[in-house]
Amino acid sequence: MTVTPWEVSGEIDYEKLIEKFGTEHITKSLINKISMLAGENHFHLRRKVFFSHRALDWILDMYENGSKFVLYTGRGPSGDTHIGHIVPWVFTKFLQDKFDAKLYFQLTDDEKFLINPSISGKKALNLTYENALDVIAVGFDQRKTYIISDMEHAGPMYNIAIRIAKHVTGSTAKAVFGFTDSSNIGIQFFPAIQATPCFIESILQGHNVPCLIPAAIDQDPYWRVSRDIAPKLGFYKPAQIHSRFLPGLGKGGKMSSSMPETCIFLTDSTRQAKKKIMNAFTGGRATVKEQKKLGGNPDICSVYLYEQFLFEPEDIGIKVINEDCRSGKLLCGEHKLKFAEKVEKFLIEHQHKREKARDVVESYLLNSDEVLKCVLKDWEA
Ligand code: TRP
Repeated sequence: MTVTPWEVSGEIDYEKLIEKFGTEHITKSLINKISMLAGENHFHLRRKVFFSHRALDWILDMYENGSKFVLYTGRGPSGDTHIGHIVPWVFTKFLQDKFDAKLYFQLTDDEKFLINPSISGKKALNLTYENALDVIAVGFDQRKTYIISDMEHAGPMYNIAIRIAKHVTGSTAKAVFGFTDSSNIGIQFFPAIQATPCFIESILQGHNVPCLIPAAIDQDPYWRVSRDIAPKLGFYKPAQIHSRFLPGLGKGGKMSSSMPETCIFLTDSTRQAKKKIMNAFTGGRATVKEQKKLGGNPDICSVYLYEQFLFEPEDIGIKVINEDCRSGKLLCGEHKLKFAEKVEKFLIEHQHKREKARDVVESYLLNSDEVLKCVLKDWEA
């Protein structure tokens, strides 16, 4: 398997990733603690959609002792948003609501411009705007959410990033990100930009504020560097909570925009989505007769996985699907139709909210001047 911020492929072994990246399991007692503090147990924790962390215990202890944390997540705007992307956002919204937390949401238009030969600066900026609509449509709190466009907000971003970059050597960056001599120097600097939002709130407040990052596990290399340099700049190390990937509707892998027939975009029409669902890979048998007799296998079914990750939050609902599939009572065609209905309903609602977001997108953007002022003041101190 390959898992880097720019490539995820092969059969993903999440246990191995925990070992390889040196992160920690989210234990039962940690889940209980979050649930106790949040007043609710989220299905993403119960189902191990979020399965690994760094310093989550620390940040919860801080919270218990009166230090609220800020949330930070993001997206690389390389194309339209698809359903796999919003898995961590749904959980981030839960955390924002339950912990009354501010959220910095970074759109890394610079990263996508630098890494992708076919993305122009103009296209990256345009995608940032389009993706921001999806972020807003997920329902983040307008008064507590700050969307960052690295390109638009370059002033404060750059002024924080150079402080970070000064402490990261070329050999560290090479070892962590696998850069080679042919990697352009823009992308080699970029990790400092992705580390930057971890510290914005501390700079604004003038004192340290803990930061929790919900993100898919492929982003972990950035956080290793961020955690490494934080104390050198006098900040707390940011904590992380890592999610699994939502694979495409085909067989295995991460949901990838490069295979559009296997992923549902948030801007797909209900007809397009239904067609993709009807072609999805499932754990069915060769014939209906055989399936009625022997049952299907939900463990390898892409539709079942989507139910678990997003569309069936109720445990009892999942149990029924699982049992009916295994017993041969629920056939794949029938399940796909039911599932498509849920997805269609979701898309209609999302797209409605997405259109409404056009009117408020400005109010979600980071106040760049204000942050720059604080950064420069902090600079002098
Ligand atoms: N590099 C990420 C991507 O390509 C985008 C990103 C920036 C991000 N900051 C983040 C993702 C923080 C998760 C958390 O998708």
